Amino acid sequence: MTRTLVTSALPYANGPLHLGHLIGAYLPADCYVRTLRALGEEVLYVCGADEHGVAITIGAEQEGVPYPEYVARWRHAIKDTFDAFGIAFDVWSGTSTCPEHAATSQEFFRRLDMNGYLQKRAEEQLYCERDALFLADRYIVGTCHECGFEEARGDECPRCGKWLDPLRMPKVLCKVCGTAPVRRSTSHWYLDLPKLRDEGFGAWFEDHDWKPNVRAFIGNQLSEIRPRPITRDMRWGVPVPLDRADGETGKVLYVWFDAPIGYVSFTQQWARERGQPEDWKRWWQRPDTRLVHFIGKDNIPFHCLVFPAMLHGLKQDWVLPWQVPAHEFYNLEGRKFSTSKNWTIPLEPLTRRFDPDLVRFYLLASAPETADSEWRWDEFQRSVNTSLADTIGNLATRVLRFAAKHFDARVPPLGAALERELDHSLLEECGPLADPARSVLDFRFRRATEELVANGAAANVFIDRHAPWALRVKDPERAAAVLNTACNWIALLARWMGPFLPRKAQQIWSMVGGAGSVHAQPWPGLPQAGSWRPLAPGTPFGTIEGPFQKITDEQVGAERSHLREGERS
Ligand code: MF3
Ligand code: ZN
Repeated sequence: MTRTLVTSALPYANGPLHLGHLIGAYLPADCYVRTLRALGEEVLYVCGADEHGVAITIGAEQEGVPYPEYVARWRHAIKDTFDAFGIAFDVWSGTSTCPEHAATSQEFFRRLDMNGYLQKRAEEQLYCERDALFLADRYIVGTCHECGFEEARGDECPRCGKWLDPLRMPKVLCKVCGTAPVRRSTSHWYLDLPKLRDEGFGAWFEDHDWKPNVRAFIGNQLSEIRPRPITRDMRWGVPVPLDRADGETGKVLYVWFDAPIGYVSFTQQWARERGQPEDWKRWWQRPDTRLVHFIGKDNIPFHCLVFPAMLHGLKQDWVLPWQVPAHEFYNLEGRKFSTSKNWTIPLEPLTRRFDPDLVRFYLLASAPETADSEWRWDEFQRSVNTSLADTIGNLATRVLRFAAKHFDARVPPLGAALERELDHSLLEECGPLADPARSVLDFRFRRATEELVANGAAANVFIDRHAPWALRVKDPERAAAVLNTACNWIALLARWMGPFLPRKAQQIWSMVGGAGSVHAQPWPGLPQAGSWRPLAPGTPFGTIEGPFQKITDEQVGAERSHLREGERS
């Protein structure tokens, strides 16, 4: 038994999520957490909104809404989307509202300072005289000093992905008013990443067993790493702790300093709300905890270098990440998702047109695990119609309708004489079977969905081969035993579907007569699955209804033209 702390990147509270976000950092995490739970592991799943920083202040200012009101609106809207898609955190909070967050972030700052990992530097920064504002990060638009891209932001270049130094950018303008800023002196604290690297963090990083795409993304950033500023001249954010501020006022912690600390402060909030305020330490300060950060690939440097370096620098034996499943980019019909160009699929209306579980399934089946991938409407249709409706749905309805008609809508009896023969037939002769949990634990979600479908296909081969419809008159006992085996196998498929299609799994489970929550059932791995018979003979079926409606060509056509017509250039 291990203890696993799972986090999903904190979404910025400045806009709606799209499918790319869901498959990047949330759905795989939810599927992973549900699988660990099913296996009886101890697991905690933490997330919340990222509510500080310039992405927020610019959004709120453009709408003329006070910051707290703006982030509250998005915090709730984003949570509604997660609820609609069945993404079930143990705690959902926000960096500007979590009662623990500011104090914990300030404590990080103090300890890093005390341990000698912060440097204060007097420096020049860009300042807009018209707005009386130091321009940090996205308040600056200008030319990238690495690749020459002309619409880079002051924090990073969207084209080459490099971290930028606004003072080295050849051309810069204030994002608010469009005028050219001047240089003005100020002072800021820097996180001494080279020192952290040389004092143990580098050794940990080099020895760690990273996934290949993480290694490739980080490349030699560690050897070239420089101190990074962790404070800003802004009014919205966690104030630099006064006792360390040397009389400086009006400074806050940089959003990328405080945001990942949210993983900690939200855990503290969760523990306190459960009446055990010290219990967060079990998750963050015990060496047998596995910390897993689910993120999109653009967040790799912060989760693999900066945040673990911060934890290391606290010198209190904090848990460092065990795995960082980082997804590649997810596109929409051959192009990047873009809210400004309206090349997107708004999620809230989407859930009214298609069952969210179908969307979950196709997203996981097309996840950008090792290379970029994309949402395609025709592939969504194919995935739902073939993998779900024809294979799993059809199995359930044809078996249950037949058994309902001829066996009193109950699970038919199973004579002991046939049990072993039929189990053997399913397990050995009808097709390849695989326990999808193994792939999930390996972060291979695409393969896990393929396995689910293959298991359904094997059950279809079983039922065709033993054809209970033909046996019913000739050998009713054998027909009953075949149907009993098929019903139990449908129950097993429902259990295995749980982490992928949580509501559909429950529907199928109840339909075949399963009691209570499918998610509370044990997880039978192979080969035990062959003898897992949760349904006693005589158990009445629930309401039998095809669980998956096919998606029509008209629906696909409508979605595609809607997308094309809505596009803005
Ligand atoms: N808000 C960031 C983004 O969407 C992610 C923050 S992850 C955290 O890219 F670790 F900083 F919380
Ligand atoms: Zn300005």
